[in-house]
This record gives sequence, structure tokens and C-alpha cells, in this order.
Amino acid sequence: MAERVLSGMRPTGRLHLGHFLGVIRNWIALQKEYDAFFMIADWHALTTGFKDPSSIPGDIREVLSDYIASGVDPGRCTLYVQSHVPEIAELTTLLAMITPVSWLELCPSYKGQIQELGGEIATYGFLGYPLLQTCDIIVVKAHIVPVGEDQLPHLELAREIVRRFHHTYKKEVFPEPRAKLTDFPNVPGTDGRKMSKSYGNTIDLADEPSVIAKKVNKMITDEKKIYKHDPGRPEICSVFSLQKYFNAPLVPTIDADCRSGKLGCVACKKMLSERIAAELAPIREKRAELLAHPETLNQIVAEGAEKSRGVARETLRDVKRAMKLC
Ligand code: TRP
Repeated sequence: MAERVLSGMRPTGRLHLGHFLGVIRNWIALQKEYDAFFMIADWHALTTGFKDPSSIPGDIREVLSDYIASGVDPGRCTLYVQSHVPEIAELTTLLAMITPVSWLELCPSYKGQIQELGGEIATYGFLGYPLLQTCDIIVVKAHIVPVGEDQLPHLELAREIVRRFHHTYKKEVFPEPRAKLTDFPNVPGTDGRKMSKSYGNTIDLADEPSVIAKKVNKMITDEKKIYKHDPGRPEICSVFSLQKYFNAPLVPTIDADCRSGKLGCVACKKMLSERIAAELAPIREKRAELLAHPETLNQIVAEGAEKSRGVARETLRDVKRAMKLC
């Protein structure tokens, strides 16, 4: 039996090329090799966004359709929404009994956010964020958790909570989950900084070719390459960084022709935006189709929830036995 993988993402709305290259491609590869569980962490979104939850349902639909349209295949993995699996909350309550507050307070995400946002975020729910994440993972007894480096402290906490449970109740219930570091590539956004929704510099999977062209056209290249024939420096150019992902076979030529002045930025950008548009076209069409049929999306996550609840109920039976609740 293949090892089980679990990963999750908060519902952040439309996904962009950074997610596509960093997360989605990875999930698509993992679903082929592992017993993969992928979830959308809507409760986690509420830990920070509790004041205005109105965008969450739409964001879940956008994220889901982006995943499925890009190749995350509900036929090969279990795809669900966290809040559809109430066993996660039940497990969180039970494990809260053995989780020292100091472990949660020490998590860098907590310390950092409290410093940044102040008392507003000093809620019980936000303090419990990493415990909830632990329960996402261990309720399905996952072995492997593909995450970016920023999540490593949360994985360490998950392992400590598992060990403490086993030690306290003298019963081995969970595998100790291991992080699998995914190299989240540093995909540059249209302003040269890391692509991120909060910087407003994204190219989204849903973008039309004309929007992609517009965004790529306004990207800053090498400011010393003013005229086409000026020699350029690909190593400092974000357009070139994106060429590496989207026009890989042409990269040596692009590199040479940019330096020699044979290739100008206008033509280089055109090549890039056309390739991105071609790559995204089938995804854009499929996601539009999915969004037009919410019942299909509902059906997919209903099946996913049923499957993960089946696993989760068994886990809870083990946990309750150990804690003398049944
Ligand atoms: N905290 C993760 C993030 O911000 C999202 C997440 C929630 C998650 N539950 C998870 C990731 C379980 C891995 C496993 O990216």
C-alpha cells in the first residue's frame, strides 16, 4: 500500500503562476505515486479572516476549479473542503487537552503575526492554527506532507504532538508525519518581486491572452537595454526568468540573442506571453466550464469528504479508545 500524502491550502481565490509552478505541478506528480489527500483549509482562512468571511465560498470554488482544470484529478486523489470533515474539529478538541499553550506560542507564524497585526489576531482560534493543521494531517494518518519551508515549524509541532499522545496514552495511533520540502520556485511577478496576490503582481490561471499580454508588456526588463539592439543581461531580467519555465527549449537562443542585441524586449515579451497564453488556454476553458457547473464541483468535494470522513472516523475511534471515551 502506497504511503499517504496530505497537503492543504487556504482558499485564497484565483490561483496564479506561482501556485501553478510551485504547488499544483507537485500535487499532480504526487497523486500518481501516493495515496494523496488534498484539502482546502477554510477554517484556517477564518483564523485570520473571521471578520469578513463573505468571500470564502467563492474563493473555494475558484481554487477548486483551478486545481481540477490544471490536472489535480479527483479520480486519483481525495479532494475535499476541511469544514466538510467535522472529525477534524473533534480531533482538535481532544488533542487540545495535551497541547501545551507554550508550544503554540512559540510557533514563528504566531509570534510574527501578533507582532505585525497586534491584538486583533490574538484569538484562541489563531493560537490554535498549528494544532488544527496537525489534526488535518493526522486525522487521515498521513505519512508525508508536501509543504514549503515556511511550514516546517508546523510539521515539527505535529510530530511533537503525536509523540506526546503516544507517550501519554501508551498507544501508537498515528504515523509521525514527515515534511517533504517542495522547492517552491521563486517565480517573479510582473514587478520583479516574488509573485504574490498581496503585491498585485500576478499572472492568474484565469487570465485571458490579452490580459497576459498586457501584464507581460509592462514588465521591467534590463533598464540598460533601451533599444532593441542594446545588449541585455538576462540574469537580471524577470521576463527571462519566466522564459525558463515557459520557453525552456529556446532559452539558450533567447539568452544569446538578448546579449547580442539581436532580440529586443518587445519581441521577447511577445514570445513569452504567447507561450503562457497557449499553456493556460485549456486550463482557462476547463475552469470556466467547472465554474459554470457548480453542481459538478459540489459532487467532487462531497465524494472527497465522504472518503476522508471514513478514514477520519476510524482514527477517532482509536483516539477515543486511547482516551477512554469509548
Ligand atoms: N498552513 C498551510 C499554509 O498556510 C495550509 C494548511 C492547512 C496545510 N492545513 C494543512 C498544509 C495541512 C499542509 C497540511 O500554507
